[in-house]
Amino acid sequence: MRIAGVMGWPARQSLSPRLHGFWLREYAIDGAFVALPTRPEDFSTALRGLRLAGFRGVNVTVPHKEAAFALAGTLDPVATAAGAANLLVFGDDGRVQGFNTDAGGLAASVAQELGPDAVRGNAVVLLGAGGAARAAVLALDGLHAAEIRILNRDVARAGSLAAALAPRVKAKLSAMALAGWPEAAGDVALAVNATSAGMKGTPSLDLPLDVLPRDSAVCDIVYNPLETDLLRRARARGLRTIDGLGMLMHQAVPSFASFFGVTPKVTPGLRRELEKALADG
Ligand code: ATR
Repeated sequence: MRIAGVMGWPARQSLSPRLHGFWLREYAIDGAFVALPTRPEDFSTALRGLRLAGFRGVNVTVPHKEAAFALAGTLDPVATAAGAANLLVFGDDGRVQGFNTDAGGLAASVAQELGPDAVRGNAVVLLGAGGAARAAVLALDGLHAAEIRILNRDVARAGSLAAALAPRVKAKLSAMALAGWPEAAGDVALAVNATSAGMKGTPSLDLPLDVLPRDSAVCDIVYNPLETDLLRRARARGLRTIDGLGMLMHQAVPSFASFFGVTPKVTPGLRRELEKALADG
């Protein structure tokens, strides 16, 4: 039996076991994917134990992505650029390979919803400057955005992110305070929320959406609730919307392939399963 899991802390509900469990049944694979609540101070010891116990690898979520980056023996280019790894694969030789599939997951989700060239050559506006925003810059650059305007409450943090990634991406990066939204949003193809605002129990960013072009789209990486206030307002204006489940499903594809040897498909059935899990709480 092949075994893998997801390491995170606090031991909050992760959707990953439901997601991988669905695919394990779908592809009739003899395997298991389990939640592995791990305190930050125990991360490296737990990782070593899982490797010695025969796990194929692990997904890594908050707050361990930087620790995973630091502990990996090898890193893929996206993990190197992001400074964070969300997938660790244990090689037969004892080596730990680190990957970052978050950026690819977001890019795949946007491409699936809007088409592969929706962002190409266009300006986009990105809200947030934390780890999620960093992955989003790499995703949008991968989709060939011409310009990425990073807006953050703390503008210095937006500036640091732009400065750190500018040498690594082709897109032009700029940094602004959230107050710059009306000027920044007027000609974009896509607006991406990569702040944590809008997560269950917190209000969505209250930005005026009437400044967005009629043919633009709004993407939220938050998936709980599935339809954030931001997406609800965008939809009400007739804009196309992309919710956070798309990124979650797509980032899991390379992980599942590494753990279980089959490249799985993101299907409406998988989405229904996860919507059910979210509704169940
Ligand atoms: P992650 O690694 O998941 O991106 P993070 O590093 O804590 O998490 O970053 C959270 C992001 O959400 C930041 O951009 C934060 O803005 P600041 O850098 O100004 O703190 C943003 N954020 C969180 N709550 C917010 C709110 N209520 N309004 C605006 N931005 C918010």
